[in-house]
Amino acid sequence: MFVNHQRSGSGVSIFKHKLGDSFIQHVATVKSPLLYSPNDVVATSRRTFYATNDVKYAPGFMRKIEVFFGMPWGHVVYYGPGGVFSKAHAGMSYPNGIAKSPDGGFIYVAASSEPSVNAFRAADDGALELVAKKVFTNFVPDNISVDVATGKLLVAGFLNTFEMFRYNREVLEGTNARPAGSVRRLSLSANVRRGFIEENVLAHDGTLLPSTTMAVVQRRNNVERVLLGSVMADHIAICDNKRQRSYFDRL
Ligand SMILES: *[C@@H]1O[C@H](CO)[C@@H](O)[C@H](O)[C@H]1NC(C)=O
Repeated sequence: MFVNHQRSGSGVSIFKHKLGDSFIQHVATVKSPLLYSPNDVVATSRRTFYATNDVKYAPGFMRKIEVFFGMPWGHVVYYGPGGVFSKAHAGMSYPNGIAKSPDGGFIYVAASSEPSVNAFRAADDGALELVAKKVFTNFVPDNISVDVATGKLLVAGFLNTFEMFRYNREVLEGTNARPAGSVRRLSLSANVRRGFIEENVLAHDGTLLPSTTMAVVQRRNNVERVLLGSVMADHIAICDNKRQRSYFDRL
């Protein structure tokens, strides 16, 4: 499932893929007045999903106010088995990346303007109940990926938001903006009420991959790496695990 910003309005496009096939097949593109500003989507089955709707206002003065002051006017929508949209959780400040735990029991949402990462449990009707929250200082989370081997979250985000805005505004004309980025690893405590445990995975000054918006773990031949991506870049950054590399260096 992909967020699809079409000229006729934004929506979520659903595709299917069979293992081994070299193609994906379009199944449907679904839209709703509840999902007027889709940011990210997580599939919960072949035909159901949660998606973040980041802002209330169309581009213009009110959008600027909303984003600048971090107004809690975004929400998460649920697209249920009957093909019906509903508001699953309202009152969020710029809900951005969305992901789920490997067993599907938790839905994770980054609220960039709070700035926080939130864990929800889903009710039968799709409504999301908040069960844990990690609020950051000096870190604005963007996208979330879940390491299915460990269940831990990798959250990519910004350390200097104004440089990020300047970079995104100027990048096509050439810019000297250096939006510094960081990746945090979060694990939900066994006792969910204790919340998240946070680790710092990496930080960079903005030269490595400007405007880093996502991080994922790659494990191959016993080597663990972190791959960084950005919606604003035409390349990715590959980071070796320092501890592991020194281990191999010693061999
Ligand atoms: C956000 O992360 C998810 C993985 O959790 C990925 O599928 C999606 O493409 C990412 N979106 C962007 C805009 O980076």
